[in-house]
Amino acid sequence: MESAPRPYRSVLYIPGSKERALEKAKTLPVDAIIFDLEDAVTPEEKPAARNMLAATLGAGGYGNRAQIVRVNGMDTEWGRADLQAIAAIGPEAVLLPKVNGPADIAAVAQMLDAVPAAAHTTIWAMMETAEGILNAAAIARAPRMAGFVMGTNDLAKELGSRTRAAMLTALQHCLLAARAAGIVCVDGVYNAFKDEDGLAAECAEGRDFGFDGKTLIHPAQVEIANAAFAPSEAEIDLARRQIAAFEAAEAKGQGVAVVDGKIVENLHVATARKTLARADAIAKGAA
Ligand code: COA
Ligand code: MG
Repeated sequence: MESAPRPYRSVLYIPGSKERALEKAKTLPVDAIIFDLEDAVTPEEKPAARNMLAATLGAGGYGNRAQIVRVNGMDTEWGRADLQAIAAIGPEAVLLPKVNGPADIAAVAQMLDAVPAAAHTTIWAMMETAEGILNAAAIARAPRMAGFVMGTNDLAKELGSRTRAAMLTALQHCLLAARAAGIVCVDGVYNAFKDEDGLAAECAEGRDFGFDGKTLIHPAQVEIANAAFAPSEAEIDLARRQIAAFEAAEAKGQGVAVVDGKIVENLHVATARKTLARADAIAKGAA
C-alpha cells in the first residue's frame, strides 16, 4: 500500500503554562499538539512557561503525537528566547504566529540552521494576517516550511469579518497555496467548545474543503475531529471496490471501470489508494 504522511486530524492547542493540561495531553487520542507560548500565555507567565515547556518536552511522554511549539513572534521581547529554548529540544515543528511573508520564515530557518538538535525541525506558519494570506504561495515554499494553521480568530479581527463564510476566500487561498507546495493545512478553531453539533458541522465543512484536520482548544473536541477527518467505512469500502474494478477492467485491456453507476479512471484510483493509505496511517498511529 502507498505510504501516507502522518495524519493531522486533531491538532490540540495547550497553553504552555498549564501543567495539568500538559499532563492530560499524554493520554488524549490527538494526532498533534500545539504547545502554545503565544496568545494562551499571559506576558507575566511567558518566561516561566517557556522553561516549564522546555523541561516537559525534554522529558517526553507524548508518544506518537506530533509536537509543534508555537513561539512568540520574533518581533516581540520573547520570540528569540522561545526559539532558542525550543530549538535545543528539536521538536517536529516550530509554529510562527502572524507570518506576513517568506522573509519571516527565512529568518527563523536561518536561526534553526545554527542548532544541530533542530536539524529535522520544520516550520509551520499561522495564517492570520491579511498580508500573510496574500503572500501564502511564497510562504508555503519558504525554507523548512511544512504546514499552515488557519488563525481564524485573528483573521476575523483583522478583516472585520463576522462569519466563517466571510473568510472563505482566505481559507481557500491558503489551501491552494499549501497544496501547490505540498504542505499540510489545518483549519481554524471552533470557539464554542461545548457545542458538539456546531463543531461537527464545521469539521465536516473543513474536511470537504480539503483541510487535513482542525485545530482544537479542548479535549472534548478531539473525538469529533478525529471522526470527521478520517475516511469513513463507506469511503474505505468504495475505495477498495474502485481499485478492484479498475484492476479487473485493466486486465481486460480497458482503461475505465464503472462502480455504483459512476466512472472510475486512473485518477480516481489514485484518490482511492490515498484514502486507504490515510486509513492505514491512522490505524498505525492508534496502535
Ligand atoms: N489541552 C489539554 N487538556 C486540556 C485542555 C487543552 N487545551 N483544555 C482543558 N484541558 C483539561 C483540563 O486541564 C482538565 O483536566 P483535568 O481533568 O485533569 O483537570 C480537563 O481538560 C477539563 O477541562 P475543563 O475544566 O473542561 O476546561 P477549563 O474550563 O479548565 O478550560 C479553556 C477551558 C478553553 C480555557 C481551556 O480548554 C484552554 O485553555 N484551551 C486552550 C486555549 C488555547 O490554547 N488557546 C490558544 C489558541 S486559540
Ligand atoms: Mg493568533
